[in-house]
Amino acid sequence: MKASQESLRSKRARTIDAEMAVPPDKSISHRAVMIAALSNGRCEIRNFLEGEDCRSTAAAMRQMGVVIDNPEPGLLVVDGVSGRFTPPATDIDCGNSGTTMRLLSGILAAQPFASRLTGDASLSRRPMQRVIDPLVSMGAQLHAESPKSCPPLRIEGSRDLKAVTYRLPVASAQVKSAVLLAGLFTQGTTTVIENVRSRDHTERMFDFFLIKTRREEIWENKNSPKDRRLVEIRTSIEGPQTPESMDFTVPGDISSAAFWLVASAAQPGSRLLVKDVGLNPTRTGIIDVLVRMGARIREVIETSLHGEPVGNIDIKGTQLRATTICGSEIPNVIDEIPILAVAAALAEGTTVIRDAAELRVKETDRIAAVASNLRAMGAEVEEFPDGMAITGGRPLHGAVLPCHHDHRIAMAFAVAGLFADGETVIEDTACVNTSYPGFAETLHLMQRGGHVKRRHRLLAGLSGGVAKPEARQ
Ligand code: S3P
Repeated sequence: MKASQESLRSKRARTIDAEMAVPPDKSISHRAVMIAALSNGRCEIRNFLEGEDCRSTAAAMRQMGVVIDNPEPGLLVVDGVSGRFTPPATDIDCGNSGTTMRLLSGILAAQPFASRLTGDASLSRRPMQRVIDPLVSMGAQLHAESPKSCPPLRIEGSRDLKAVTYRLPVASAQVKSAVLLAGLFTQGTTTVIENVRSRDHTERMFDFFLIKTRREEIWENKNSPKDRRLVEIRTSIEGPQTPESMDFTVPGDISSAAFWLVASAAQPGSRLLVKDVGLNPTRTGIIDVLVRMGARIREVIETSLHGEPVGNIDIKGTQLRATTICGSEIPNVIDEIPILAVAAALAEGTTVIRDAAELRVKETDRIAAVASNLRAMGAEVEEFPDGMAITGGRPLHGAVLPCHHDHRIAMAFAVAGLFADGETVIEDTACVNTSYPGFAETLHLMQRGGHVKRRHRLLAGLSGGVAKPEARQ
């Protein structure tokens, strides 16, 4: 098979019997460096994800006058500037990272200078109206230079932002976070209302850095466990506030663990233990979905790491069965849908994924990319505007597949290749470094069942390695 130089290759794997740590959480790493930069002193961030996306955020902060030292891999020493940044001399390049661009917009909207945010080809196609609307209503000027509200994004910030109450039209932790970050600088109470719960890392990190927020849940039929429904969540912040400097350690990323959770869940006889991974309930939907599909999973919260629950996931493989993923569960698994679609292709029955139109505006159109790659491997897929139906059970075969510069598509299909006849080649996979440096090495080990000798080295660094458990022979 012909493939470009940077590619991932996979072949049918043996059963997995492994213990591993995954790379640091991407969402939390972005927020840690931003909130540390906003704080009033020196903060050490340990286990920072040194992937391309989070490096873009750190580079942006440096361009805004923040001194950030990187004395050893995974350690950032950030000298907070108490929210008083300096104007960047040039455009800020957010690379492939929507989180960088959207969260940074909230901070820049409150600065007394102009800035311009650019991105790579993929980010330049992603909609920014969702952050423009609330930040303009607060009094900043934001203008997307490309059609359909796409980047570059020009921002004229203001020191006199107005506190607003803003109801999110789409469930988005990025937009919620942008408004809350801008709210740090206002006089008065800024409130974000969501109808569906999105990841709450910003709120938890605000608590940890001693920023006062108020959170309120409005329920229908609150006292009836069967009929109760969460109507809305209101998060308020009273401005102005400056985060207190703190040291912070980032847990492992459950979205990176997801690839190996599915690789083991779908293989009868496999067993995997993922250690020191973030178990924030706004991110653990993948576990609920895999349990519904028949996987045997034990999730144990061991500790709370600076406000984030952290622990281990122990999973045993089986023949998976189909499920439905829709409604308020979608934001909780939004980044895991490509790999869950692969799980669906390996399951008995038809899995239906709906209410996930947001996938069309991620790093690529993930519904189209998943459907076409699964079909190329022999799976049966029906595509809907907001999701897909995948009928599992057909044998998968290897193929040469594009990933459209989308890290999660690349990794999901490399895992699909572990279940296919022949070789699967994913082309142009440099994008994997945005969230999972070392993925190719771990894929290679997993293909051999996860059996390696240097267990302690791979686990000690929380570095995304994999090793065979000693206790479980
Ligand atoms: C993220 C939120 C989600 C997610 C993205 C990271 C974050 O995006 O898909 O990978 O860190 O806040 P949306 O906020 O657009 O749903």
